[in-house]
Amino acid sequence: MTSTEASEPPLAQWSVELVPQDDEGMAFYLAHCRPFRLKMLQDEPSAYGSTFARESAFDDKVWRTRAINRRVRTFVAIRRHVDDEKQTTTTTTVLSSLSLWGPTFIEAEDRDDLISAAQAKRHAMETRENSQEEQRPLLKWDVAGMYTDKDSRREGIGATVLEAASQYAIRESEALGADCVVSLEITAANSGARTFYEKSGFKFLGVGDEGNLRFTRLMHGTDGIDE
Ligand SMILES: CC(C)(COP(=O)(O)OP(=O)(O)OC[C@H]1O[C@@H](n2cnc3c(N)ncnc32)[C@H](O)[C@@H]1OP(=O)(O)O)[C@@H](O)C(=O)NCCC(=O)NCCS
Repeated sequence: MTSTEASEPPLAQWSVELVPQDDEGMAFYLAHCRPFRLKMLQDEPSAYGSTFARESAFDDKVWRTRAINRRVRTFVAIRRHVDDEKQTTTTTTVLSSLSLWGPTFIEAEDRDDLISAAQAKRHAMETRENSQEEQRPLLKWDVAGMYTDKDSRREGIGATVLEAASQYAIRESEALGADCVVSLEITAANSGARTFYEKSGFKFLGVGDEGNLRFTRLMHGTDGIDE
């Protein structure tokens, strides 16, 4: 699998990877991402739009279709252990995961609202407009299914996965000559997630149709975060 640029923690006990959409990635997805997602839905039933009861009834075909959906990339933090004295087998444990959906092209009439809500880079945007440069297209990416295993929280793992996905969104958008925002929704009662995303540079955008809180973060360039 592909290790991402933002993937190296100081003491590399774990790494962040993008699950590829090939045969190897499919095998990994079915063996590790499927059970991790079911565990997520079981452990945190109030945090997501789906349920364990619904998804545990999915057959293989549904999971296979998910694994190769070109609109979704799966990022995971994993730890690999060598199991026995002969060191012939390894166990892979998923510690954290998220899905990155997109990109969606943002129409001109929606662009200003999204950017001013994101606040970041306003100055640079104004500078660009003042200097008569042509406005670049804006692409939106959405984070969903963010989850860190209960035993691995508050170790910076979730933030590293989120950062790897955000950097991926920047690179893919740059390749298309576009700026990008990364957006997400959380349930209104999820104060821990709110702090987590705000700490990661996301700004509150408003309340969505179903009462969820919407957040967004404006990214710019390949240098990193736009703050
Ligand atoms: C939210 C979640 C993904 C965070 O994962 P994590 O790997 O523990 O996050 P990190 O360790 O990278 O946290 C980075 C910073 O975010 C903040 N943060 C993370 N979790 C927090 C919490 N529960 N309460 C308050 N602040 C929190 C902290 O400032 C933390 O830094 P610190 O530990 O140095 O103080 C994880 O708690 C989780 O899976 N929660 C249940 C599911 C969920 O709510 N998912 C998100 C909604 S889709």
